[in-house]
Amino acid sequence: MMKKKILIISLIILIMISLGSLFFFFSNKNKEENKSINEILKEDGYSQSEVSLILNKVSKDNYDDVLKLGYDKSLIDIISSSDYKENKFNDYIKYYLKNKDANIKNIIVIVNSGYDLSNYPASSLLASLVLEKYYINDNVARYLDYGNSHNVDSKKIISLVNSKADLGFYNESLDSNLNDNNLVLVNKFYHLKEDYTPTDLVTLGGQYNRGVNNKMRKEAAEALMKMVDAAKLDNIILYNASAFRSYDYQVNLYNRYIKRDGKEAADKYSARPGYSEHQTGLCSDLNNISDSFDGTDEAIWLKNNAYKYGFILRFPKGKEDITGYKYEPWHYRYVGLDAAKIIHDDDITLEEYYAYYIEKL
Ligand code: DAL
Ligand code: ZN
Repeated sequence: MMKKKILIISLIILIMISLGSLFFFFSNKNKEENKSINEILKEDGYSQSEVSLILNKVSKDNYDDVLKLGYDKSLIDIISSSDYKENKFNDYIKYYLKNKDANIKNIIVIVNSGYDLSNYPASSLLASLVLEKYYINDNVARYLDYGNSHNVDSKKIISLVNSKADLGFYNESLDSNLNDNNLVLVNKFYHLKEDYTPTDLVTLGGQYNRGVNNKMRKEAAEALMKMVDAAKLDNIILYNASAFRSYDYQVNLYNRYIKRDGKEAADKYSARPGYSEHQTGLCSDLNNISDSFDGTDEAIWLKNNAYKYGFILRFPKGKEDITGYKYEPWHYRYVGLDAAKIIHDDDITLEEYYAYYIEKL
């Protein structure tokens, strides 16, 4: 019995000694490795605090990269940046080696974006573009082209390029995608066919209408009536002045404007046939189709509340270069509640929404 106990205890002691020496061996081995890289880095010219920083911020798998660099102050700048991510170390170094004169901050931001931008120079323009909410990687070459030849900020570059305005209005002719339903885009790039008429038009009557063009698609018409009812509770009287217009109607209208003001001027406020979203049956010119509508209680109410009913101000002030049309305080477009909220809250146009949330997917 006694013998057995002694045997077990000796066995336990033996195992503990073996484990201890194994641990000692490996930790010493590590120390050896650390010691050697430590020394090499110092020989390369790094100070003790820089060496500690490297050992602390760079994972062992990447020591080869560090040693290949030799002494390089930029390495210290990269790893001490507050936005540095250890798992992107390789990418920073690869990009840095292609852009040795670039600002390290830009390198970090561009690599952190997660997009493969390694073929583009690490410019401050690119770094500010990738930080924009509506940045689309497929458009990067056009962003840079536009940004390098125009004096506008990144946000504007992204708005203009995403909406294709950099290509020039009416310079591309694309078919509107009717499968987008309430979000169908009709503008100076996307157009409807001559024979397109929505199949679910309903007539706006009574207090909801005072115009000849009094038809809208059903869902949009119902939303419009709901909005008119809500406005009335705030003592705001709204009514449709012009909603659905057929292709042929737009032919007459546009030609009349050309005769009156010339083509160039007409293009600023009237759509060419096929390019008017009035043909979608999803929009309504409300109350007064005149610049004098701007600033009225009705216009202000609409601007602040229409999105709650799924409508957006389609041609806002300051966005003429994106929509291609002058400000129309009366023209409201139904897009549904979700899109209307984003467009309203982010102060973007349907063009920008479409590029990012529909076309990009
Ligand atoms: N006035 C708008 C742009 C149209 O003609 O559709
Ligand atoms: Zn209109």
